[in-house]
Amino acid sequence: MAKDIFKKCREYHDSHDARAQGFYPYFRCIDDSYGNHVMCQGSEKIMIGSNNYLGLAQDPRVIEAACDATRRFGSGCTGSRLLNGTISLHEELEAQLANFLQREAVLLFSTGFFANQGALTALLESDDSILCDRENHASIIEGCQTSVARLIPYRHNSAAALRNRLKRLPEESGKLVIMDGVFSMSGDIADLPTLLPVIKEYDGITYVDEAHSLGVLGPHGRGTVHHFGVNDEVDIVMGTFSKSLGSMGGFIAGSHEMIEFLKHKARCFIFTAALAPAVVGGVLKALEIMRQEPERIDQLWVNTRKMHEGFKAIGFNIGSTQTPIVPILIGSEAKAFIFSQRLFEEGIFATPAIYPAVRYGEAIVRTSFMSTHTENDLDLILEIFAKLARELGTFDDPVYTEPGRRRNVFDFALPEHHGAQEIRADSGVASLEESELYATVSR
Ligand SMILES: Cc1ncc(COP(=O)(O)O)c(C=O)c1O
Repeated sequence: MAKDIFKKCREYHDSHDARAQGFYPYFRCIDDSYGNHVMCQGSEKIMIGSNNYLGLAQDPRVIEAACDATRRFGSGCTGSRLLNGTISLHEELEAQLANFLQREAVLLFSTGFFANQGALTALLESDDSILCDRENHASIIEGCQTSVARLIPYRHNSAAALRNRLKRLPEESGKLVIMDGVFSMSGDIADLPTLLPVIKEYDGITYVDEAHSLGVLGPHGRGTVHHFGVNDEVDIVMGTFSKSLGSMGGFIAGSHEMIEFLKHKARCFIFTAALAPAVVGGVLKALEIMRQEPERIDQLWVNTRKMHEGFKAIGFNIGSTQTPIVPILIGSEAKAFIFSQRLFEEGIFATPAIYPAVRYGEAIVRTSFMSTHTENDLDLILEIFAKLARELGTFDDPVYTEPGRRRNVFDFALPEHHGAQEIRADSGVASLEESELYATVSR
């Protein structure tokens, strides 16, 4: 008899259990959105769980531009960019982004996830190595897994760990070092000033995912590479429209040659429908507003600093965040669910992030702030957090159910054809921590 592939579905109970206990925090359905506030389950909540950093998703000018694009080109492109799906707005957005980011060329993808997966899979070959920060986003991990290159994770933001990995690789091997510009759960900024000299020393290629830094860091929100003034030293920049630009879609920016190659080789680009006119029209307008209204970014930072200070004053551990992403470190998953549920009851929308999105035993409630949050919103949020701290505590200690084991995020077994064996042999793995590297990476 054939294996029952649905057995695991029947046996999956986690979400039902959490629902039954009244603490299920996901898929909360929003009935109306005003950006900083939403209507959800019959009452208004302050939204601190989105990536709409500049509030542009609800800007009337962006909405109007999306409607205009729909009227002109229709509701969809009904095909791949390669074939019938390219409209003038795609090319205009690519040109605008290239100019804004000071890059030779840009290629749009239908999501940021696809941009990472498409670029990594198309660019890397089996004798190449991808050196991947252990806290990189799941789309990067997915891209690394789909690619045939060897995946070598390195300790989060550590130039010393990166050097340690790079120095063991054969000189002739192609080496791509990839990192989030702003890490999506911790809110840390990639430490490019210390990482870049190491990458250069070993003749590596640098790839920075600017998903959470576009519209947040650098002049006019040009991202982490501009924030540090190292744009010329970074080979590939990736970004999304699903955060500061208030929509969906992603892009890769780099040399003309690379973009021409990806256009013809990236399967995630070729074999999927082009971004809808409404999306591209809206993003073009959002980009224009972002460039013309830098005061939005200034306000985002005013709000961010207030919340960092406010949370710390109450006694919450917010880790090492440097950005509008502010993790409230809770530890136990159950407590993170309860905390999030109590926040919801008090009128705040923020969701927990649990393993594998964060390290095992280090569940957080992920909060993120917007330029459009008002002083009143922020004061009320802090008041409610202070109330819950009195009621539930600040939970600042990690909880490991297996004592002594601090598992890294996102366990996965590297398929053999991805060279897992080779990596082990190359690196002379000895300690538990190191051997775990090859079984685990991050979200
Ligand atoms: C760092 C990072 N990269 C890539 C992505 C994927 O972007 P998209 O939502 O456009 O697929 C995300 C989304 O959360 C992200 O946080």
